Amino acid sequence: MAKEFHTRDGKLYCEDVAAEALVAAHGTPLYVYSRAAILERYREFDGAFAPLDRLIAYSVKANGNLSLLRLLARGGAGADIVSGGELHRACLAGVPPERIVFSGVGKTVAELAAALEAGIYGFNVESEGELRALAELGAALGKPAPVALRINPDIESPTPHHYTRTGHLTTKFGIPSEDALRLYELAASTPGLRVRGIDVHIGSQILEVEPYRQALLHVLVLVDELRARGIALEYLDLGGGFGVSYDDGGAAPVAADFAEALVPHLAVSGLKLVLEPGRYLVASAGLLLTRVLYVKEMGGKRFVITDAGMNDLLRPSHYAGYHHVEPVQRHGGRPVVRSDVVGPICETGDFLALDRALEAAREGELLAIRTVGAYGFSMASTYNARPRPAEVLVEGGSVRLIRRRETYDDLIRGEAELLD
Ligand code: LLP
Repeated sequence: MAKEFHTRDGKLYCEDVAAEALVAAHGTPLYVYSRAAILERYREFDGAFAPLDRLIAYSVKANGNLSLLRLLARGGAGADIVSGGELHRACLAGVPPERIVFSGVGKTVAELAAALEAGIYGFNVESEGELRALAELGAALGKPAPVALRINPDIESPTPHHYTRTGHLTTKFGIPSEDALRLYELAASTPGLRVRGIDVHIGSQILEVEPYRQALLHVLVLVDELRARGIALEYLDLGGGFGVSYDDGGAAPVAADFAEALVPHLAVSGLKLVLEPGRYLVASAGLLLTRVLYVKEMGGKRFVITDAGMNDLLRPSHYAGYHHVEPVQRHGGRPVVRSDVVGPICETGDFLALDRALEAAREGELLAIRTVGAYGFSMASTYNARPRPAEVLVEGGSVRLIRRRETYDDLIRGEAELLD
């Protein structure tokens, strides 16, 4: 977990600001990010691949807050986008279009056109239909679309939940290798297209290096076959998915481990490397502060009911994701009690932690949920008509509100004016 979150005199801090002070100013639930932690992760990741010509395209879906995107863009990152909305965010935040790659199985023609007009670096194409749509657009706009085919390598991608495995032919992702040569030849001979790269992404929260090496070797065979047919590529995109430690077990590989296994093969290929890390850069840089509303005991269980729920942080209920929970103020000497930390949403599936050994929490006190910088706010919803939380960015002793808390008016915007 990021060292920028630490305890001083029994109180939790983000950099030099007490979590309690953040809550006093901004309320709960509150997403808190450490600027230093994000930049450090980015520099570490980018630095590990420094021997190569590279583009670190931050995966916007992990956390698309404009201020975080701007921070990473100023640090040199590009963006991996999956929608017109993410293109809009990335451009607004100042990510140069030539550092943007566009992934996803279901890009609409309008989204493809917007990205082509913006002048992005590459489209990671996932079907023959998408390739043909791009060819038409490229011809119509007089601007050949830069394409890479996303190859489905059909390999094992060990992730904690099957929802985040994408490297098998039984998932919806990518193009089977046996179709790749035919489609590359089609692309190379189509005026509206410009063959630029090759892409593979095998899943998310991967804690092993070997699947990446396998995926890389798999696409390098195709690169050679293409070269033999006179089709030269400029970049190889190995996707994202680099895992992080959620329980502080220290088992997660670091960027240098991935680089050690991959760089030698890539250096020989002479291709520019594109990577699409999301979680790796921002997960540990974020926490969620929430207040205990009530504590009750029932059916032999202790329920700690917080003002954050599954609409604010979906990962525990959707993926059985583990997030460390701790009191913001340590009292010492309190008993540790097994508790379910649950939200206010009207579903039994609404929980942040189940059967967790916790310092006995009291009503009114604050808890911190760790490692939520990725897929926390970005998956938040307004379910149960709950305004989404505020987000703050801490830099040393200063705090910046980077997204104000939603209001009830925000919730009904788009409806109220249509009442009859
Ligand atoms: N590139 C592509 C094509 C992707 O589909 C993804 C994630 C990434 C890059 C970034 O993956 P990362 O480096 O962040 O693992 N909501 C889930 C994760 C879904 C990932 C979807 N695709 C979760 O909370 O675990």
